[in-house]
Amino acid sequence: MRTSKDTRLFIPSTLLFLLIIFIQSCGSTQVEVSEEDRFVNELLSKMTLEEKVGQLHQITSQWNMTGPAPNNEYAKAHEENLKSGRVGSMLNVIGAEATLNAQKLVVENSRLGIPLIFGYDVIHGYQTMFPVPLGEAASWDPGLLELSASIAAVESAAAGLHWTFAPMMDVGRDARWGRVMEGAGEDPYLSSVLSAARVRGFQGEDLSDKNTIAACAKHFAGYAFAESGKDYNTVDVSNSTLHNVILPPFKAATEAGAATYMNSFNIIQGVPATANSYIQRDLLKDKWGFEGFVVSDWNSIGEMIDHGAAQDLKEAASKAFAAGNDMDMEGYAYANHLQQMIESGEADTGYLDEAVSRVLRIKYRLGLFEDPYKYSDTLREKNTLLSPGNRAAALKVARESIVLLKNENSILPLKKDLKSIAVIGPLADDKDAPLGNWRASAISNSAVSLLEGIKAKIGDNTQINYAKGCDLVTSERGFAGEISFNTEDRSGFPEAIAAAKKSEIVLLAIGEDCYQSGEGRSQANIGLRGLQLELFEAVKKANPNVVIVLMNGRPLAIPELDEEATAILETWFLGSESGHAIADVLYGDHNPSGKLPMTFPRSNGQVPIYYNYLSTGRPGPKNEVFWSHYTDETNDPLYPFGYGLSYTTFSYDKITVNPNDNGMIVSAMVTNTGEVQGTEVVQLYIRDLVASLPRPVKELKGFKKVQLIPGESKMVEFTLSEENLGYYDNDGNYVVEPGLFSVMIGGNSRDLIKTNFEWNKAPNL
Ligand code: NOJ
Repeated sequence: MRTSKDTRLFIPSTLLFLLIIFIQSCGSTQVEVSEEDRFVNELLSKMTLEEKVGQLHQITSQWNMTGPAPNNEYAKAHEENLKSGRVGSMLNVIGAEATLNAQKLVVENSRLGIPLIFGYDVIHGYQTMFPVPLGEAASWDPGLLELSASIAAVESAAAGLHWTFAPMMDVGRDARWGRVMEGAGEDPYLSSVLSAARVRGFQGEDLSDKNTIAACAKHFAGYAFAESGKDYNTVDVSNSTLHNVILPPFKAATEAGAATYMNSFNIIQGVPATANSYIQRDLLKDKWGFEGFVVSDWNSIGEMIDHGAAQDLKEAASKAFAAGNDMDMEGYAYANHLQQMIESGEADTGYLDEAVSRVLRIKYRLGLFEDPYKYSDTLREKNTLLSPGNRAAALKVARESIVLLKNENSILPLKKDLKSIAVIGPLADDKDAPLGNWRASAISNSAVSLLEGIKAKIGDNTQINYAKGCDLVTSERGFAGEISFNTEDRSGFPEAIAAAKKSEIVLLAIGEDCYQSGEGRSQANIGLRGLQLELFEAVKKANPNVVIVLMNGRPLAIPELDEEATAILETWFLGSESGHAIADVLYGDHNPSGKLPMTFPRSNGQVPIYYNYLSTGRPGPKNEVFWSHYTDETNDPLYPFGYGLSYTTFSYDKITVNPNDNGMIVSAMVTNTGEVQGTEVVQLYIRDLVASLPRPVKELKGFKKVQLIPGESKMVEFTLSEENLGYYDNDGNYVVEPGLFSVMIGGNSRDLIKTNFEWNKAPNL
């Protein structure tokens, strides 16, 4: 659809496919100007100051956009702003019809008709829900993450969206912080690989394809290091942690072509991230060469006043703008102050043109100047959302995300000819919880519950005895609003106990409410809440064969379950196909191969706990008291990073290191020592034993998934390049130092075989 008004700035479609190169002479250097640059510069030259500032202003939808603005002043003002080109982007405009209408308001009424870019939090699916990101990371499978992001993009784009505020790539070590659910866990290498895969999935090869959307690398930076795990809290990290732990996934996102970045609410190293010119300008834009734009987090500019970093919104705007924050999300800081600051010379015109060009460039790459309406297609939306193909992909990803944490006496997989089975627990027949938090446009109660999955799997062969046992929460479920846990109502216990008694095996579905993790959901206590432990004890007394099906968005401290349950299956919040995926694993139609992307602690006091820590000067028990330990808890986690069982077993042997042209080839023999075929995530770790700045005791540097039939052995090979051996110094320079390294291979970060090698080549980076 194209408007006929002659002031519109559409480029003929054929031009989009032609790269017209202008050769300009600058002294003796020839500079090539791409069609994109030419277009952006030309448009910029036609814009008024007010229109430029408008491009940097993002507002949330104030009404449902499927009709005119309601008759209130606020909405009316927004409608006027949209019509006059004073808004460059909107978030939370839902659906093809609404996005079409909002876009029309702008394109058909504003002087230059510059299209809006629509953003939304599509975190793990748009309507077909995939596992929450932490769960999906447990697949350790970049291909699957790319697949799920690409389907989320197809659905979002069909609903008129151009841009998702994902992936979140905050490396998270603190399970108290509820937003670990949105990331890829505690490891910078795994997070880098998986975040880059998600970026590729959302954006595809060509941003202008109507099945792709722009990604947003967030939250830049350090948000997950909130002190004491409390959301929005101050972050105070060393340069080493900043460069070696926090930033690598963000750098990987630039390399993968992420179109946008979102900064974060926190103060980092004394400066609010939103006004942090070192990370936004010096690193991201200058050093890494990022070409897209940076959006603030929701009013994070305004929040600088509460941080004590600005006395008013104008000063906050000035600081954020100077520091490289291009677009203002719902902060009204730029809308209210930037024009005047430019006019008075308080803000830099060069920065303004740069910020606006960045926004226009991404709109150009999305093809919005060619056809601003092409994403909003109600028919495509209808045919795409929750399509059978999308659900099939969700099932595939869900199965691979499940982690088997315990399996005593090989109680799993279950036999399909059991006479009876009890399905118990507050989450057992919950069709909503598996959709998780940050669920975009998911339809409430649209997931397959565990009970439904079991019924579909075994038909009438087995008697299923279902009992809820108790409610987990007493509050209404929702994104906002306090959660209150049921600590009193045990009236369902007798039915649960009776169901357990008359069944051969009990499946007990417990864990977290789906809104218990996510934004604003920090917890000081990460054990099981409400009456769940009590229910477990009661059921266990009635029937000792209890298989726990955990649903949760963060690592939980569950030593009691580890001690007393017969088996534990970690299923996170698996999305639309949850029940089918879990049943496939419980009954052995899919052998689990997921591995934890985050360490599970034994108790709250151990948190933050992570595998790649620095050694202390007193690491081991040299005497009883004076070494680095707790007097009331072991140092060991409940389940280490990278951990996960299978229905078969694997052994590791013969680790060798051989130099080649690029570095080292490290290999080890992996054997399937069990009875069934299985897939193992083979993990490679190194330790730089002595360095100018001490390095962690282990660092993941590679992983491979291998499939083995019973008795089969495979030599698994990794290339360790020189680049894998280095680290960032305190100035952010990458250095490789010669010396002795350990290299370790295994199926988790704890159980590893090891050898050493000497690296003595001159650095060649
Ligand atoms: C605040 C969150 O921190 C951010 O992740 C999200 O994208 C925005 N709100 C928009 O909803």
